[in-house]
Amino acid sequence: MRVVVVGTGHVGLVTAVTLAAIGHDVVGVDNDEERIGGLRQGISPFFEPGLQGLMEQMTDAGRLRFDVEVTGAVQGAQVIFFCVGTPARASGEASLVALERAVRSVAPSLSGPAVVVEKSTVPAGTAERLWRILRLERPDLVDEIEVVSNPEFLREGQAVEDALHPGRILVGARSPRGFETMRQLFEPLIDSGTRFIETDMATAELAKHACNAFLALKISFANALARVCERAGADVTAAVDVMGSDPRIGRAFLDAGLGYGGFCFPKDLQAFEHLAARLGYDFPLLREVARINDEAVEATFEKVKDALWNLEDKRVALLGLSFKPDTDDVRFSPALALAGRLLNEGATVVGYDPWAGAAAKSELPGLEVASSADDAMADAHCMVVCTEWDEFRSLDLRRAKALLAHPIVVDGRNIFDPTTMKEEGFVYYGTGRASHRSAH
Ligand code: UDX
Repeated sequence: MRVVVVGTGHVGLVTAVTLAAIGHDVVGVDNDEERIGGLRQGISPFFEPGLQGLMEQMTDAGRLRFDVEVTGAVQGAQVIFFCVGTPARASGEASLVALERAVRSVAPSLSGPAVVVEKSTVPAGTAERLWRILRLERPDLVDEIEVVSNPEFLREGQAVEDALHPGRILVGARSPRGFETMRQLFEPLIDSGTRFIETDMATAELAKHACNAFLALKISFANALARVCERAGADVTAAVDVMGSDPRIGRAFLDAGLGYGGFCFPKDLQAFEHLAARLGYDFPLLREVARINDEAVEATFEKVKDALWNLEDKRVALLGLSFKPDTDDVRFSPALALAGRLLNEGATVVGYDPWAGAAAKSELPGLEVASSADDAMADAHCMVVCTEWDEFRSLDLRRAKALLAHPIVVDGRNIFDPTTMKEEGFVYYGTGRASHRSAH
């Protein structure tokens, strides 16, 4: 099928490349000329495992191209995805102005039957709004144009895999034709067993918010449990293993640590709460999920303070700056929240990340960025694990101990074994686990 994807960010570019990979002819459109220029040279604007290679394959195969001009791209398109950003306003409410502008820019170019797909995570009721705009802008096509909600469930660092092998495909539509077109579009995935869930538009939009809110709730539950474990001398990693062994609970997203970040959970929680409030329902549970998440960073800060006392003359090494492994994305990264907290207290902070060093530096100019874990740890008074990149799990502990001015490790992602750390002579602070504070 002929597909247009408007917006080439983390969701749009992955959607464009993977729809081409399952056999469609795709045009990726963005009003950012520089980004389109880069994409035309085959350069992805962000790191996502497997994306660069697949993008090159698809453009070479002639099934994927990029354009700033939406008019020509939309001519004859059967499906038009909108994957533009829905950032949080200062109030926390999702800003939908980019989405409205994008749909209005496309409306004049629509020329026949087409399905307009709302992919961005939006408050329930947004698809209905888009349908109203299109009816007003193009009354001549009111029987030809469908609007559907098709929320994405992509995880950064695994987005290509999640797009090609989704856990499920969710479509909210207002008529059978909307569902039929989307079933046709995703036929290869459905044929390989992916569940295709049909709902009305508002339910699809709301379910997406509910998914992210519940995943964030699981993480905050684990972090609140970690606070209790630290006071009880219990081990949160063992406790969540017990919890996760109950299939009704499930083990995923129960890892206590520095908490969640990224451009989804923090903003989607706020947007969901604002949507509920706008509909007249107060949803304090969502506020508590966010509060516990902020508390997770503070609890880690307190461990550094406990280990180092006055921070003014101290050098703290952070391993990991991205909000999670396998991404260069530092948006809402707990690592940067901690770095900022330490800098404000007068510490010198040096961070290392396999991919996100440059992004971190531009986000937090006061942060020193090292080109390796060793360089970051050299002469540091303590090391904090902020992101669980695989390379940190296999860190040479003897070498780390020789490099650090003091053998102090604060494990913000519980990647080390407390017993091993004690045997290697470290002062070790786990998260929600035993901390070994030998005399230091
Ligand atoms: C999330 C959702 O998983 C995805 O379905 C949705 O489409 C977009 O938002 P993403 O934000 O890319 O994906 O990353 P995810 O893997 O969900 O992790 C989010 C944050 O939670 C990261 O900061 C991660 O470090 C943290 N996390 C995750 C925990 O702190 N503990 C956990 O157990 C799991």
